[in-house]
Formats: sequence, C-alpha cells, structure tokens
Amino acid sequence: MKKLWGGRFEKNTDALMEDFNSSISFDKKLYKYDIEGSIAHAIMLGETGIIKEEESHQIIEGLKSIRKDIELDRFDFDKKHEDIHMNIEAGVIDKIGEVAKKLHTARSRNDQVALDLKMYSRDSVKMIQTLLKEWIEALVDVSEKNIDTIMPGYTHLQRAQPITFAHNLMAHAEMAVRDYKRLESWLNIHNTMPLGSGALAGTTFPIDRYRTCELLGFESPCLNSLDGVSDRDYVVDLLSACSVGMMHLSRICEELVIWSTQEFSFIEIDDAYSTGSSMMPQKKNPDAAELIRGKTGRVYGDLMAILTTLKGLPLAYNKDMQEDKECLFDGVETWIKSLSIIIPMIKTMKIKFKNTFEATKGGFTNATDLADYLVKKGVAFRNAHKITGEIVLDCIYKGISLNDISLEEYKIYSEKIDDDIYKYISLEECVNKRNSIGGPSKEQVSNHIDILKKYVNTLSTISDI
Ligand code: ARG
Repeated sequence: MKKLWGGRFEKNTDALMEDFNSSISFDKKLYKYDIEGSIAHAIMLGETGIIKEEESHQIIEGLKSIRKDIELDRFDFDKKHEDIHMNIEAGVIDKIGEVAKKLHTARSRNDQVALDLKMYSRDSVKMIQTLLKEWIEALVDVSEKNIDTIMPGYTHLQRAQPITFAHNLMAHAEMAVRDYKRLESWLNIHNTMPLGSGALAGTTFPIDRYRTCELLGFESPCLNSLDGVSDRDYVVDLLSACSVGMMHLSRICEELVIWSTQEFSFIEIDDAYSTGSSMMPQKKNPDAAELIRGKTGRVYGDLMAILTTLKGLPLAYNKDMQEDKECLFDGVETWIKSLSIIIPMIKTMKIKFKNTFEATKGGFTNATDLADYLVKKGVAFRNAHKITGEIVLDCIYKGISLNDISLEEYKIYSEKIDDDIYKYISLEECVNKRNSIGGPSKEQVSNHIDILKKYVNTLSTISDI
C-alpha cells in the first residue's frame, strides 16, 4: 500500500519498522479531537478561499461520517497508516475521493498532533475537576457527620493530641482543593492553540489562526510556530498535577489501610470495596486503598518518562515525542479511576467512634493539656512538662489513663491540681479548647465545612461546559 507520504520513496517500509513506527494502537483514543481539529481547519480553509467552500463542506461531511463509523465500531484502523491522523485522512479519501486530499493544505501532522493531545488534556482536566469536586463534597459530607467523633491525632504514628475524625478528613479536603486549583492554573497556562504552526515554520498560505482558535475554544494562537510544535509542557504539567493528586490519595489510603487493621479498628471499609483471601477465610482486605497507593508509583513513572523523553530534544518535532501519549493516558486514567473508587469507598465506610475514642483516651493524648493546666496555675512550662511526664509514666505502670487518677494522687504530684482538672482534661474539652483558626474544635471545623461547601458550589464541572 502506498503511504500518504510515499512520493519520494522507492521501496516499501520494512514490516518490523512499520510496526515499530506505528502509534495507532494507542493514539486512536484521540480520534474525536483529531476530527474536531480537522473540521475547524477545513472551515477555515473554505472561509479564507484557500480551498473552495464546496470542497470544505464535502470534507467536513466526510470527516463527520468517519466519526460516526468510529463510534459505531465499523472503522478499520490500519497500522500501515501509522497514526490516527493518517488513518482518518485516508478514511476520508476513501469515502469522498480526491477532494479529501486538500484537507492537509497548510497543515502538518506536527501541529495536528500537538493540537489533538492538548485538546485531550483539556478535556481530561475538566473531567478530573468534576471528580475532585465530588471528592471534596464526599469528604465534607462524612466530616459533617463526624464533627464530634474524637480520635487521636498522630505524629511519628504515635498518638499525640486529640482531634476529630472530621478534622482529619477536612485536611484531605484542603489537599483536594489545591489539586483543583492546580488544574485551574493548567487551564490558564495552556490556553494557546498550536494549529497553524505547520511542520515548524508556519505556512505560506493565508490561514486565519484566530478563526480556528475561536472554533476550537482556545484563548489565542501560540505565538511561535517552533514552540507550537515542540511544546509538551502541558503534558509535563498535567502529569505533575496527576502525581501530586495521586500522592494525596495515596496518603489517605495509607490511613485507611492502617485504620482498618484489627490493631487500630477505627473504620470498616464496605464489602463492596474490599476483597477476601483465596486461602484464609477470615480475611477482608482493603485492596482498593492499597491499589491506589500502589498506582501512585506508576503515575510518578509516567511523569519521569515524559520529562526524560523531552530532556535534550532539539526544536522542533522529533519522533521521540510520539512517546508523550501512553504515559499521559496512563497518568490521567489512573487518577480518574482512583478518584472514582475512593469517593464511594469513603462515603460507605463505617467509622467506629467508640474505638477512636478509646484510643484517644488510652494514648495520653491529653497530656499536653494537663501540662497546660499546670502552667495556667502558675507552674513553669518545663516543670509542668516534667511533672506530667512522671504522671504518665505512673499511669503506664498502673494501666490507667489520666482521667482515672484520683484527686489525692494528683495532689501528690502537685498541690496546684484541683478537681477542675477532670473537666479540663476531658477529651471533648481538649478538642474544643483548640479553637485557633484551623484547629480541631467543633467551631473551627464547622466553619471550615461551611467555607468549603460554599466554595464547591462555585466550581464548574463537565456538565457546565
Ligand atoms: N504519530 C506522530 C506522533 O504521535 C504524529 C506526528 C508525526 N509527524 C511526523 N513528522 N512524523 O507524534
């Protein structure tokens, strides 16, 4: 079969080379964007008189009919046509004949692929933002129901100070807000359109780049044709956002895995998101959370792959850049799938508030409060810290918590301790006294929940587009 670019060739491509060179097995995902970009290009060619209006209409009809064929799964992708761009062009030629050969006037596959991949990225960003919005809503919702669920806050994975389950989940909501904003800034930075850059040096035809830009919904045409075909920053930035987003999911998943151990037993993940063991009948494993944690590594790999591919590439297009797609598709799809599973998983998990409370009590998480109490009664902080440490040690030996010590015993350690101590170090008090902005008190967390509820209502989603 003669290639679309076969004019200067005397021999056929080697079969192995054809296979090695072809990207159709993965870039067929771009068909929608390729056709949309080609339609905009054909409209512009017709309007500027570069081709006849009638020819433009025929080509557009041909493109639409190929789109239908692909959607109905009756289009034959052929690796002999190398990639999505030439498969579609060859398809239109087959369908409407000679006139279709005018479609590629004033265009190169180099600006075409840069456009297609950018359009794919833009849609993916909007899709992920929609899921992030749902993710924030889920976290806010579960937080609202657990505003009084006391649990230990940890440092070094050692029980540290009392917080609430809501306070913990709202920390993850803040991360998701930053993920959303990171994608918002992606949309701002990468709102330029590469089509019209040609192979590298624009074109001698009187194209109207503002018109194609308008048709494709970009802010402006890119201002340097070399940059237009060389730029893959948008892939790097999107994979970087995917990596940070996955890192955030991985961190909450690590907590979910720990919390669902029998040793912690703070939560139970719903059966729908757990699996059993083929050998051990008693097992219920948090596989979804583990998989998200595991897949984070892959997404980092995707980011490293594109960064490494681009390093040292001279301007403009080099075939190395065909390697930009699989990593991008993988990173984007992994984040989308991970968000899609973690949202219902969080919404359906059971929170064992009695256990989180007992763990908070047993872990001396109110020891700082006891020290603060002494300070407020006039003891210097260093001495208060020492006295409290000795009380804790005594409790450890006796197997009791700070709330179980009698007043007489307290008095042995410090005469300053009175019976108001019990209220002061009650876990509810300890949480609600931490009322500094961002702290775990009911007042602060409710305020945070209100702010995020209002914020998510301002966010646009894919259905608004
Ligand atoms: N399949 C190619 C890619 O994905 C399209 C651009 C090819 N351009 C070229 N001059 N070989 O990068």
